[in-house]
Amino acid sequence: MDCRRVSYLVGCFVFGLGGLFIEVRGQNVLPKCFYSEIYNFGDSNSDTGTTSSAYTTINPPNGELIPGLIFPTRNCDGRLIIDFITENLKLPYVNAYLDSIGSTYKHGANFATGGAPIVKGPSPFNLALQISQFIQFKSRVLALYKGNISDPIVRARLPSVEFKKALYTIDIGQLDLAYGLFTSNNDYQAINASIPSVLANFSQGVQQLYNEEARFFWIHNTGSWGCVPRTNKMYKPTPNDTDSAGCRISENLIAQEFNKQLKDLIVDLRKKFLDARFTYVDIYSANMN
Ligand SMILES: *[C@@H]1O[C@H](CO)[C@@H](O)[C@H](O)[C@H]1NC(C)=O
Ligand SMILES: *[C@@H]1O[C@H](CO)[C@@H](O)[C@H](O)[C@H]1NC(C)=O
Ligand SMILES: *[C@@H]1O[C@H](CO)[C@@H](O)[C@H](O)[C@H]1NC(C)=O
Ligand SMILES: *[C@@H]1O[C@H](CO)[C@@H](O)[C@H](O)[C@H]1NC(C)=O
Repeated sequence: MDCRRVSYLVGCFVFGLGGLFIEVRGQNVLPKCFYSEIYNFGDSNSDTGTTSSAYTTINPPNGELIPGLIFPTRNCDGRLIIDFITENLKLPYVNAYLDSIGSTYKHGANFATGGAPIVKGPSPFNLALQISQFIQFKSRVLALYKGNISDPIVRARLPSVEFKKALYTIDIGQLDLAYGLFTSNNDYQAINASIPSVLANFSQGVQQLYNEEARFFWIHNTGSWGCVPRTNKMYKPTPNDTDSAGCRISENLIAQEFNKQLKDLIVDLRKKFLDARFTYVDIYSANMN
């Protein structure tokens, strides 16, 4: 099968961030400059170097337009949403956990990997694996602080021990839908029916992070991937499956269903974990706008 289609599917989505922040304005939005660390989980929408470290070099478009970036390793010519978020918080771009050259984890770590699903997709780096990487990262940081790190260079590259004050950002799920469709010969009913179990797995992951002290969650819903120009150019949707914006209706309907259930899940998580904050970010509407 052609994994390129799937992995590129969730790559660069350019849209105005103005839209994004309008969608999330409200009581859930936290004050700026509060966080000194970000831990991110996801797919190529927010992969700042894992794919390049774990597999091989990414050819342009790879972030080559980002000023000052020594190793462009993104699935986009410029910045990803995660880059805009870190800039907005006055933090440096977040380094991939697997990137061993020149990385610092003083301001967090990025576990997102191109092609990564929550449960089922073309990459082994599913959400559960990314979370287990985070847990190992955290336990090593704590162990290093417990021991006597005399090396100032090592110390300068470590985040603070206050994992409960960090921001946890998550952007994942598109691959479960897109790859599912691709490998099931567009069995929309089956993919639609799989959403509850995929989100149950997502929920377990969030709870695992909560158990590891995470309290501030910033969760992106899935984008309008029925509109990805590259895919629609290569695989033209039939006229009866195309909306007025040129998007594939059937794929966007699945995305909408996923988002509806994700939103319900987040409402439940808020009730269950009263001392945590969950911000649901409507990427889908921002994309459509
Ligand atoms: C979530 O899915 C992944 C990938 O299939 C699996 O390894 C993990 O055990 C699942 N987590 C839970 C809590 O079921
Ligand atoms: C830490 O290590 C340094 C250098 O090895 C040593 O001088 C210092 O006494 C140690 N401090 C503690 C608290 O063990
Ligand atoms: C997807 O499944 C839900 C039930 O889980 C149903 O309400 C909805 O109509 C289905 N959507 C499509 C596009 O089939
Ligand atoms: C669109 O038309 C094709 C035939 O051209 C048909 O096979 C397909 O089922 C139709 N799809 C929808 C969503 O109506």
